[in-house]
Amino acid sequence: MNRISIGALAFLTSFALPLAAADGPAPAGIPHLEKRGAATQLIVDGRPFLIFGGELHNSSSSSVEFMRPSWPRLAALHLNTVVLPVAWETIEPAEGRFDFAVVDGLLAGARENNLKLVVLWFGAWKNTFSSYAPAWVKENEDRFPRVQTSDGRGTERLSPFSPAVRDADAKAFAALMRHLRAADGEKHTVLMVQVENEIGVVGQSRDHSPAAETAFAAPVPPALTDFLARHRRSLDSDLRAAWEAAGGKSVGTWRQVFGNGSLTDDLFMAWNYATYVQTVAAAGKAEYPLPLYTNAALVRPNYEPGQYNSGGPLPHSIDLWHAGAPALDFLSPDIYFNEFAYWAGKYTRPDNPLFIPEAQGGAAGAANALYAYGRLSAIGFSAFGIDDEGNTPLDLVGITNPGAHPDNRALGRAYALLSALAPVILEKQETGGLAAAVLEGEAQRSGRVAVGDYTATITRSGAASERVGALFIQTAPEEFLVVGSGEAQITFSTDRPGPPVVGIESSDEEHLEDGKFVVGRRLNGDENSQGQALKLRADDLASGTIYRVRLYRYR
Ligand code: DGJ
Repeated sequence: MNRISIGALAFLTSFALPLAAADGPAPAGIPHLEKRGAATQLIVDGRPFLIFGGELHNSSSSSVEFMRPSWPRLAALHLNTVVLPVAWETIEPAEGRFDFAVVDGLLAGARENNLKLVVLWFGAWKNTFSSYAPAWVKENEDRFPRVQTSDGRGTERLSPFSPAVRDADAKAFAALMRHLRAADGEKHTVLMVQVENEIGVVGQSRDHSPAAETAFAAPVPPALTDFLARHRRSLDSDLRAAWEAAGGKSVGTWRQVFGNGSLTDDLFMAWNYATYVQTVAAAGKAEYPLPLYTNAALVRPNYEPGQYNSGGPLPHSIDLWHAGAPALDFLSPDIYFNEFAYWAGKYTRPDNPLFIPEAQGGAAGAANALYAYGRLSAIGFSAFGIDDEGNTPLDLVGITNPGAHPDNRALGRAYALLSALAPVILEKQETGGLAAAVLEGEAQRSGRVAVGDYTATITRSGAASERVGALFIQTAPEEFLVVGSGEAQITFSTDRPGPPVVGIESSDEEHLEDGKFVVGRRLNGDENSQGQALKLRADDLASGTIYRVRLYRYR
């Protein structure tokens, strides 16, 4: 087992900031990342932890009062972690005057309901804009310049080329992290912190402020070109193609090194946002070294930089972000698109563990979550707008709520099952023995996935639009636990030496009660097509069903 703390390593090797800024050494055992086997896991109080999360609507956590009724509902949805914003304007309403009353109220609310938190730092940027910056920043354009358009107009986006913006943002973030260390350094309610939110320039492909123009005309910093040369083989293929198409140079202006296309503007912004975020993240980590990450709004097909968030940590910019912001532990995708497996896969790399802070919830979210934990060894999954009352399942909260509809019932139940299975999932993420599949979109009727020595073929049997997810946990060479979301049939085959045909020796329904498996029906008749297929039913999550399948082989 290779137990390197990735967060600590990045922190120690990449910059030398004054650790002394914090009051003494960091408390022992704070949440951190560790490489365990093939997976990178989040370690909380000495044990690996899977985040079963939901992200609040943007404004909910600005009011402790507003949150009061939400906490129990979130706990009833079987979340173990709430992902919530803390805005710069909330903690520093006047320059240098910090107020952590709201942060403390959120910590208390989470603890009373046995929930953990991932904090989103809405600093200089939230969805490209600077709407959460304090009024004293917004009102002082001379001191805190904005991103400008090519015809010289201002925007409501602070410029990443301004050291004044960066340093004020970093100072506030450091104050937040110092406070979290003081208020939570022992209890570990806060697991990780996201630095900024969905960064990028929209409307134009890059900043045209005077400082940005100067930087764009200057040579590409050697720190970046050296990184590209050192990591040439592992670079994202689109980035490498753009760089090599322009000659693979190590010296030159941005256009000389990356070409005259609009992607160059995106890469230029990515580097400059990343190095800005590095200063902010490093200042925070020097106070309290929790795992830090930044998230990306993804790209719709055929969108150009500026139609999408130009400069955000998109797949083709992950390497630039790693080079420019080593104080971040990873980069995350916000996945609202249907091609979940594609996007989640792009952010699952040996140098980038997967955490999805925002995604669609409901039944689709449940299927996607099974895939993320089982196939991509995700640290966590989190559905957006989780505190929406309309999404609170009636039967889970036991209250009458006329506005409710059962949208997140499936996700809540998936979380309930996954919570019970978390110890075995975490063990298998480390040692192997996990597999998962997701069927996305009407075109994908079936899919195949390797599970141990076998291949599972999953074929949709419900509505053509239904997303199907299946998680396989190998418990013995011929035995698997299967958790499903959506209606499907699963058959097994093998290409390994030995008898060629695979039969289902038995499939049992099981349920978890107080963490123990309780065996239900044996399904060896119509319920599994006379042993020819495992059938996932529409109500499997609702009934908390796990299948235990034993295979055998014959000629
Ligand atoms: C993505 C953003 O990151 C969130 O803060 C929120 O605005 C959602 N979009 C809304 O869909």
